[in-house]
Amino acid sequence: MLLNCTAGVASVEALASAAAEDLDGKVLLDVANPLDFSHGMPPTLTIAGDDSLGETLQRTFPQARVVKGLNTVNAHVMVDPARVPGEHVVYLCGNDEAAKGRVEELLRSFGWREIVDLGDISGARGTEGVLPLWVRLMGVLGTADFNFQIRRA
Ligand SMILES: NC(=O)c1ccc[n+]([C@@H]2O[C@H](COP(=O)([O-])OP(=O)(O)OC[C@H]3O[C@@H](n4cnc5c(N)ncnc54)[C@H](OP(=O)(O)O)[C@@H]3O)[C@@H](O)[C@H]2O)c1
Repeated sequence: MLLNCTAGVASVEALASAAAEDLDGKVLLDVANPLDFSHGMPPTLTIAGDDSLGETLQRTFPQARVVKGLNTVNAHVMVDPARVPGEHVVYLCGNDEAAKGRVEELLRSFGWREIVDLGDISGARGTEGVLPLWVRLMGVLGTADFNFQIRRA
């Protein structure tokens, strides 16, 4: 499994520098967010609305099996969800079911319990789209150790 942990604005360029065979058939867990910090804080999304970075990567590198995940939590929480008390959620999306299964196994090994599969890679529009809210919350709460929780009726 490969992880894309590059700056979202540079992810296409970064992955293009890999040899094509290095991406061929590989599960690519994309944790990046297409955030532009060039005008200071707060950052803005460079891809939004009817597209996402996850979709851009899948389109640009069709030989890879892109799974979007973990991009909605801080890096420490990604690998140690118990830093945030109680139940809280992590999302997955991607076009390849087996690839999502591999990523789900990885997430469970980190301790994630509430893993929501949002379907195909266009689900990344939503998970990337919450970043302006996430950044705002970090400022208000004064910590990056937080996450969203879903409550069903
Ligand atoms: N940090 C978090 O808590 C967190 C949480 C969720 C999602 N993410 C996402 O994860 C990604 C990495 O986050 P970060 O906090 O580690 O960001 P960062 O400290 O800014 O690191 C960005 C990385 O991208 C690389 N990079 C930039 N331009 C590149 C290019 N043209 N080619 C190859 N590599 C390039 C940088 O390499 P050099 O150092 O060599 O320039 C660096 O390793 C981002 O997309 C971010 O949105 C981060």
